[in-house]
Amino acid sequence: MSHITAAPHRWTLTRYLIEQRRRFPQASGDLNALILDVSLACKAIARIVAQGQLGDALAPVSTAVNVQGEQQKPLDVMSNELFIRMNEWSGNLAGMASEEMDEPRQIPEAFPRGKYLLVFDPLDGSSNIDVNVSVGSIFSILRAPADSVDTGRALTEADFLQPGAAQVAAGYALYGPTTMFVLSVGNGVAGFTLDPNLGEFVLTHPDIQVPEDTHEFAINTSNSRFWEPPVKRYVDECLAGSTGTRGKDFNMRWIASMVAEAHRILMRGGVFLYPRDTKDPAKPGRLRLLYEANPIGFLMEQAGGRASTGRQPMLGVKPSSLHQRIGLVFGSRHEVERIERYHHEPATREPEAPLFAARSLFRD
Ligand code: AHG
Ligand code: MN
Ligand code: MN
Repeated sequence: MSHITAAPHRWTLTRYLIEQRRRFPQASGDLNALILDVSLACKAIARIVAQGQLGDALAPVSTAVNVQGEQQKPLDVMSNELFIRMNEWSGNLAGMASEEMDEPRQIPEAFPRGKYLLVFDPLDGSSNIDVNVSVGSIFSILRAPADSVDTGRALTEADFLQPGAAQVAAGYALYGPTTMFVLSVGNGVAGFTLDPNLGEFVLTHPDIQVPEDTHEFAINTSNSRFWEPPVKRYVDECLAGSTGTRGKDFNMRWIASMVAEAHRILMRGGVFLYPRDTKDPAKPGRLRLLYEANPIGFLMEQAGGRASTGRQPMLGVKPSSLHQRIGLVFGSRHEVERIERYHHEPATREPEAPLFAARSLFRD
């Protein structure tokens, strides 16, 4: 849409959504309303995060454990509650699912039901909260199966098990030095910065593109002894830098807040790996498919990057359970394609690089 790219500066999120909706004259506006409600939840979470120890959300660490066996922080729980409260009443949703809830959340009887599903990680990177490092919220919007909309039947886990390619929209909020909201409604990726004076998300990054090439990678190298050979090979070659087959030096980053890594990569390129590994056979990967890998994958693909399990495009994966974990690789297209190629090549390579050599630091 030429008028969208021509003069989008300082549009509010509301205006951006209305301009996008003009592509679909029949659209009801429900999706826009839903995204605005999500953005309101994110603004509320941003406020709480910004209060830090001055607020009560970081106070005594709760003993609660979520369905993944991870300790829930009060802020995880509060963020989840905010997502629910800001979205359940609107009539836009048929149901919700989140990292912090074992089962899908039904819309209370008191409220009308709508045609969308909202799936979210209310607070990603929450181990970083105590140390004042960026965290965020990630969301994915799917269509509810038609029969559930027609009959109003209770939603089941199976209703949410849709491949990432079926997402109608996805995005995240980043609670960093500035609060940002990054969104795709399937027509590229746009970034908005929270104007604290207006309390509005304002379009500051109208057409985010991930560079195809990079010399920056992100992986938790403490897991290196659990990596599969293609991942070892890839990282070996990055570390060998200009002395190895890559012929250029690489830099490394690890924030331990995937949403912040995704944002860096959307802004300037790079590649992120949390691959499938052998650390815990019960967990094929660390990150979750439905509310981490798929929405971030959707954004990457919409921005010209790529997202993969290492073996296949992430958005083609048919989910098998609500809280399924999966190996995740995303970012600059050429690097992700290289990693996929390594996964498909037979493992006949002689190790060439220093990381796993006999006297190396990370010898496995
Ligand atoms: P969450 O806080 O929602 O549980 O997710 C944390 C994730 C992700 O953000 C990050 O990339 C990863 O966990 C960090 O893993 P390590 O602890 O292995 O570094
Ligand atoms: Mn997370
Ligand atoms: Mn989380």
